[in-house]
Amino acid sequence: MELQNFDTAGFLRDSWQQQPLLIRNPWARWDNPIEPDELAGLACEDEVEARIVTHGVDGWRLEHGPFPESRFAELGPKEWTLLVQAADHHVPQVAALIEPFRFIPDWRIDDVMVSCAADEGGVGPHFDQYDVFLIQGLGKRRWQIGPKCDDASPLLNHGDLRLLANFEATQEWVLEPGDILYVPPGFGHNGIAVGDNCITYSVGFRAPSRSELIGSWSDDLLEAMNDDDRYGDPDLEAQANPGEITSAAINRLHAMITEKLGDRAAFARWFGQYNTTPKYPEMDWQPEDHISETEVAELLASGEALRRNPASRFSFIRQDDGTTLLFVDGQEYQCSGAQAEFAQQICGHANLVADARQASSQQTVQMAAALINKGNLAFDQGD
Ligand code: SIN
Ligand code: CO
Repeated sequence: MELQNFDTAGFLRDSWQQQPLLIRNPWARWDNPIEPDELAGLACEDEVEARIVTHGVDGWRLEHGPFPESRFAELGPKEWTLLVQAADHHVPQVAALIEPFRFIPDWRIDDVMVSCAADEGGVGPHFDQYDVFLIQGLGKRRWQIGPKCDDASPLLNHGDLRLLANFEATQEWVLEPGDILYVPPGFGHNGIAVGDNCITYSVGFRAPSRSELIGSWSDDLLEAMNDDDRYGDPDLEAQANPGEITSAAINRLHAMITEKLGDRAAFARWFGQYNTTPKYPEMDWQPEDHISETEVAELLASGEALRRNPASRFSFIRQDDGTTLLFVDGQEYQCSGAQAEFAQQICGHANLVADARQASSQQTVQMAAALINKGNLAFDQGD
């Protein structure tokens, strides 16, 4: 699916991370990618993260899945919504919704959450930490947007849901199939289904917090450090006032930290691995049958297309020495020559046909076989 009437440059200049934007049906043709009963089916599966939010006389309620099929029959005619996280991992047509937004780099993408609501269903007024494109799939939803919120914004006293206590809408629209509302981080928003079978897709982004970066990078560094690596002062000179921590000592202590934390090349490697760690690391996507390197070489040479598992995270980093580091689901592959071309192409496209140079490169074949056997890539044949 492609965006036809959409000004990417104008959006990045005027809206991205700045202000909400309503984009009325910009698609060349809009086809809703998942039906309500298919979504309910996903919400019954063990490995799928699903929630139901209801709103009634006893207030807001949150339930976590997986749900028994019977749960859907018990839901009333109004004011409930089913939310399924990372539906793009399981339904290729939902994964295809990310493609038009890939003018934003992949490493910023989180997942596509899908909601299906009965009349007047919604999750209540709230704000998120992340950018989101809310695409109306089926039915109608009234979206209200409020001012920018922060940690100080009062919330309702609710154990499970972070709902705004004083939400006042400043703008309001009814979205119809194909319409998109972009909401930057922090802006209060409230979506209420108008009629049944209201399906909304949230193409959601992520951005690491400074505390998460420093904490996780430090944890990783600490693993490689040992107790012998400590402050030393073999050049110590007698000091006039023994009570002073001299600036020479502070410099040396501070350098012990900045030498490690300031190592940009080491940081880049760590970040590539960290950022491509799968959203659900416990999920096993390995194929039933192991493929040999000989089979991979043959299939690549015959022009068989490879496709990425939509649940796998792929990114690459160019190194100063001209090599490429490929990161797939937290694993690093150092690549050069034809293998690096292959790595960069598979990051750029969800599908790839290797060219003759790549197909005859042993390193490329080995890496492709490893990725296939981990379930990150698959040949298109037979599906
Ligand atoms: C929804 O789809 O109902 C909620 C999406 C959101 O507000 O982030
Ligand atoms: Co939201």
